[in-house]
Amino acid sequence: MSKVKAAVFASGTGSNFQAMLETDLACDVVLLVCDKPGAAVLDRAAERGVPTFVFDPKSFASREDYEAEIIEKLHEAGVTWIFLAGYMRIAGATLLQAFEEKIINIHPSLLPAFPGKDAIEQAHDAGVEKTGVTVHYIDEGIDTGPIIAQESVDIFPSDTIDALRTRLQQLEHNLYPQVINQLILK
Ligand code: GAR
Repeated sequence: MSKVKAAVFASGTGSNFQAMLETDLACDVVLLVCDKPGAAVLDRAAERGVPTFVFDPKSFASREDYEAEIIEKLHEAGVTWIFLAGYMRIAGATLLQAFEEKIINIHPSLLPAFPGKDAIEQAHDAGVEKTGVTVHYIDEGIDTGPIIAQESVDIFPSDTIDALRTRLQQLEHNLYPQVINQLILK
């Protein structure tokens, strides 16, 4: 039986994208959608032969317009699930309605604490003793929507932001593929 088809949306480095491809995923990643021409994640996709759709939001009149084009590409590729992995852009109603309850995100904090950019720095600077990783369904907010899974890590007084980032990334790279498989095989 053929696997369900998924797309990954990413804007940056793509370490989560790579971790997914290196895991025994219950779906095929058939498309990478990227809103940053030149992002490092595109090199990772090229190395692994994953087709990409790259767009520059500035060249569209509105979010509705670029999301309509993304949806066309997703349908052409037969995609039924979307995994956001460092996609630093809010999803609008156009995309949310086309893929209802099929878009999930990973975020490096224990949401609802520290949403948005620089979540690792925010937790580190706030002096909290724990932070972590959250996987959640998305809605129209910034890192909001029903939580599916969370795992925490301690922040040690001696931790640098880089050391904390490394631990959180390891957690992300294990947790995200696990949660994806649970959702797909459910
Ligand atoms: C990841 O830590 C992800 O959780 C975060 O961006 C990073 C992307 O890293 N996402 C957010 O902050 C969403 N608000 P990667 O490009 O190496 O996968």
